[in-house]
Amino acid sequence: MAEQITREDALTREGYRHACHIMLYGDSSAKLFGKIPIKHIVLMQMRFDGLLGFPGGLVNPSEETLEAGLSRELHEEVGVAVPVGVDNHVSSCLSPSCPRLITHFYIKKMTESELKEMEKAAVATATDHGLEVLGMVRVPLYFLKNGGGLPYFLSHSFISNSRAQLLSALQRCGLLSQGELEKAVRQAEQMRR
Ligand code: GTP
Ligand code: MN
Ligand code: MN
Ligand code: MN
Ligand code: MN
Ligand code: MN
Repeated sequence: MAEQITREDALTREGYRHACHIMLYGDSSAKLFGKIPIKHIVLMQMRFDGLLGFPGGLVNPSEETLEAGLSRELHEEVGVAVPVGVDNHVSSCLSPSCPRLITHFYIKKMTESELKEMEKAAVATATDHGLEVLGMVRVPLYFLKNGGGLPYFLSHSFISNSRAQLLSALQRCGLLSQGELEKAVRQAEQMRR
């Protein structure tokens, strides 16, 4: 588990770089195959390095606030400068994979139509599309037979601690129960072998 610090403490530390990433999500009434409710849209992205991660990026707090920097990165990566506030902040931690980097994590709920418009903009107008970002992806939150759905998604490779960020955000937002999360992690573990 990465070492957690407060947003305020993070901003007083010298010699650290800062990165801000966000889970954008919302409710959905859509049904897979006309019968399996997808329940929620949760967005991640396929990065240029082939790893899954959240949209966002490096922010320089001496030039912009963390939240304004995150909005700027969202404009570059998903084509919409989604407004982000301190109330969207959920955690800050010393990066387990990158020395002298503090990663800040945010969550924001949006409507289904806002999320769909953003998915279009991510392809149509985002300057990083096809470059730093190979595509936005939705996280499957359901369980199909033989590990299909969330277990298979979790068996992919993720940047830094973004997989842990996803799991804790799903729990925090109540999108899945503790039992469902444990089941998904267990099944994902089995398919890695
Ligand atoms: P450049 O414009 O090339 O600088 O990229 P960027 O500003 O978009 O930065 P990026 O999104 O790659 O994030 C910077 C660093 O934060 C990465 O090198 C990772 O170490 C880390 N990182 C990237 N995505 C995530 C994420 O979803 N969660 C966490 N915790 N860390 C991430
Ligand atoms: Mn089909
Ligand atoms: Mn970026
Ligand atoms: Mn980025
Ligand atoms: Mn950047
Ligand atoms: Mn860039």
